[in-house]
Amino acid sequence: MMRTPLITLTVLGLAGTAFAHTGVKNMIVKARMDAMSAIGADMKTLGQMAKGATAFDRDRARSAAASIAKHAADTPALFEADEDDPKSEAKAEIWDDFADFTAKSKSLEALALELSASIAAGSDLAPAIKSLGGACQACHKVYREEK
Ligand code: HEC
Repeated sequence: MMRTPLITLTVLGLAGTAFAHTGVKNMIVKARMDAMSAIGADMKTLGQMAKGATAFDRDRARSAAASIAKHAADTPALFEADEDDPKSEAKAEIWDDFADFTAKSKSLEALALELSASIAAGSDLAPAIKSLGGACQACHKVYREEK
């Protein structure tokens, strides 16, 4: 089970630390990328604990999940304006079906919120990361074009 978090983080493109938002000129785009980067950093916190690179700390794990929930809650408002930037990886489809985009944000929020109250042991992390990762990918697959 130790492989799951690593695989998930790699699939999500979080293995590296350099995010694409350096040089973004559109501040609305930058704000939404910053929120996504924060979600990525929270996932990394969970991933590091899951693979034993950092010690399991229940409160830290729960607050990383709570932070993901908060950023997921902010996501629809951050993406509401149909804004673009050469550095953006957001696909135009977001604004073709914003209700679906919102629903995908809400499912991540609900899941992360639940985990922020339920993570109790180190062994909870791998399944937590797997389900969170599924929610990230459900949206990225349709609405994010990795450059
Ligand atoms: C509802 C849709 C949605 C969900 C859910 C979602 N993302 Fe994203 N994410 C996006 C979109 C769209 C972009 C591209 C934004 C842009 O470049 O303008 C993005 C970009 C990113 C980026 C790159 C940020 C940057 O600075 O370029 C990271 C990292 C990221 N997401 C991590 C995650 C993780 C981890 C999760 C799950 C815990 C997640 N996202 C869940 C839609 C989503």
